[in-house]
Amino acid sequence: MSSARDRVQALREAIERHNIAYYALDAPLIGDADYDRLFAELQALEAEHPELRSVDSPTQRVGAAPLPEFAARAHATPMLSLNNAFADDEVAAFDRRVREGLASDGAGEVNYSAEPKFDGLAVSLRYQDGRLLQGATRGDGTTGEDVTANLRTLRSIPLRLQGSDWPAVLDVRGEVLMLRSDFAQMNEQQREKGEKAFVNPRNAAAGSLRQLDPRITATRPLRFFAYGVGVPAGTAGAGLPATHSELLDRLAAWGFPVARERRRVLGLAGLLAYYAEIGRLRATLPYDIDGVVYKVDDLAAQARLGFVSRAPRFALAHKFAAEEAVTELLEISIQVGRTGALTPVARLKPVFVGGVTVINATLHNEDEIRRKDVRIGDTVVVRRAGDVIPEVVRVLPEKRPAAARRFSMPQSCPVCGSRVVRSEEEKSEKDENDEKDEREVQGVAAVARCTGGLYCPAQRKQALLHFASRRAMDIEGLGDKLVEQLVDNAIVRTPADLYQLGVAALANLERLAEKSAGNLLAAIEKSKQTTLARFIYALGIRNVGEATARELARHFGALERLLAADETQLLQVPEVGPIVAQCIRQFCSEPHNQTVIEQLRAAGVSWSESDAAAVSAGALAGKVFVLTGALPSLTRDAAGQRIMAAGGKVTGSVSKKTDFVVAGAEAGSKLEKAQRLGVSVIDEGQLLALLQAAPENP
Ligand code: IVH
Repeated sequence: MSSARDRVQALREAIERHNIAYYALDAPLIGDADYDRLFAELQALEAEHPELRSVDSPTQRVGAAPLPEFAARAHATPMLSLNNAFADDEVAAFDRRVREGLASDGAGEVNYSAEPKFDGLAVSLRYQDGRLLQGATRGDGTTGEDVTANLRTLRSIPLRLQGSDWPAVLDVRGEVLMLRSDFAQMNEQQREKGEKAFVNPRNAAAGSLRQLDPRITATRPLRFFAYGVGVPAGTAGAGLPATHSELLDRLAAWGFPVARERRRVLGLAGLLAYYAEIGRLRATLPYDIDGVVYKVDDLAAQARLGFVSRAPRFALAHKFAAEEAVTELLEISIQVGRTGALTPVARLKPVFVGGVTVINATLHNEDEIRRKDVRIGDTVVVRRAGDVIPEVVRVLPEKRPAAARRFSMPQSCPVCGSRVVRSEEEKSEKDENDEKDEREVQGVAAVARCTGGLYCPAQRKQALLHFASRRAMDIEGLGDKLVEQLVDNAIVRTPADLYQLGVAALANLERLAEKSAGNLLAAIEKSKQTTLARFIYALGIRNVGEATARELARHFGALERLLAADETQLLQVPEVGPIVAQCIRQFCSEPHNQTVIEQLRAAGVSWSESDAAAVSAGALAGKVFVLTGALPSLTRDAAGQRIMAAGGKVTGSVSKKTDFVVAGAEAGSKLEKAQRLGVSVIDEGQLLALLQAAPENP
């Protein structure tokens, strides 16, 4: 019996040693057949002696039973991100900051550890007393997902550390990835089995690691490379080396694969030479990288330099330029975004670039197409970096065929047929109803937009969510998931359809119990009684936020007057400039929108026409407020609501026109400015006193 135990122990150690020789040292000591024999012998002994089984036996790397979901795991020390640089002068600036930061110790040229930047997924492995205990993904850097069962299947991750000079508690940080050769082979097999191939090694690694069934992960050729450690506070990290490059050597000695291409380099010149060298080697490396990483080598110096927000001052990612490729532009089609922006998209002859096959690339907008003189049929250069959308960089005019055609934007929306308008969009005109996540609009650009805001299927979900939101029609319970289902099942097309909903239509929806269906219908019913200001805001007219909607309601008093107003009349309203006026005209003159508004009113949506007048007679009519700092009992949002309900106006910055600055705790520059300009500064108590005469709700 004791001999079986000894043999099991010896086999486990031998197999782990062979794993390390193969995966970490790239120098196998025995052939596959001999390895398989040792493995089979261990399996047989464990089957015969169940009492000897252990989770950290190499035989357990085949994967445990599937999980229902991944549990969340907080990282004992956060997993940080890195600041990026592309150009040499950004690297020079980094090196300068590092030297300045360390100047007190008379530092001259700084020693750096330079490494490839692996293009995989970051994970953290917890070792306790040298045994693998837990593994988690990076997640948001603070909390990740527990993927221990999956990580145990990677033979490049030691289940037990070699040697004995490790801290009792240690988090090993590194990257899970797929080697290019393994990826190619796996995809080949996927295709043979008639299954979907993965686009690139990174996606394949991510998909494989996040399998709920570890037995699937076990069949995928994932690798781990270590690049650092976290030593949880309060545990004895003593005994770790003094420099990062020695730490990497130590990780290798403990049995982890570490990048062979790591180097210790001196100063800016050393960094740039390393970047050039790895750039040349890039195509021949066994794995994908997207740059190199520089870290101040001395760990005590790292600690002194510290962090700015989520990234260390002592490290920098120096990225490689995006990859480019040449292909043919077959057609230009139009995509309508959630907010009605029309984006021209190049349909390309498929081309492999930046690790994926690209068939579409963005052309941004019509001006860009003109500027680059892109024509259908052209040979074009496309670029793709990381996860960003591929773009057409330029055309090769010498390859232009005689039949190449110019492109022009359609006059009507390809999705709903509403009119398309072109608008110069600038940041200054944006207010609270503006899209935050519309990346195509940066600075000033001529954007083509569909005007069928309430009607266009491309904008449906967005329009409904906005319509139902708390400050608009305030339909409680109508959130993301429900809107998604209502639209996808063609139950609701426009906001007016909401008021035709019945229990029967809702009955078939997933996850909507009878009771919540009832609650939703009640909330919809309740929303019918609203205010003109809310209704105008709910329409989701571009550039018409809550404050503008109030001004419009106050000025026109009745919806019909707003709908009929021309630009000159609109310009008389405070808050309304030429761009806002134009947006309102465009919206109100689109027949599709008019129809939806009529349907809403016919369904019983109403307000008392005297609202607007009541508001302007409110206690704070015409007074301009700025809120700053934390108020003791009200949120700034709630305070703003009440000021507006009483007819006051809330703006974001202090000027001579400001009547009151309401200052709470830790008020900063706005308070100073108010004092400088002699604007009245009041506290929450004084604000509440001012509000007393005013009604609670708008
Ligand atoms: S060090 C304190 N080293 O890059 C700095 N990160 O933006 C912590 N990455 O998702 C990171 N190769 O997974 C470091 N040699 C390397 C790296 C590396 C790839 C990834 C890392 C993280 C991202 C940080």
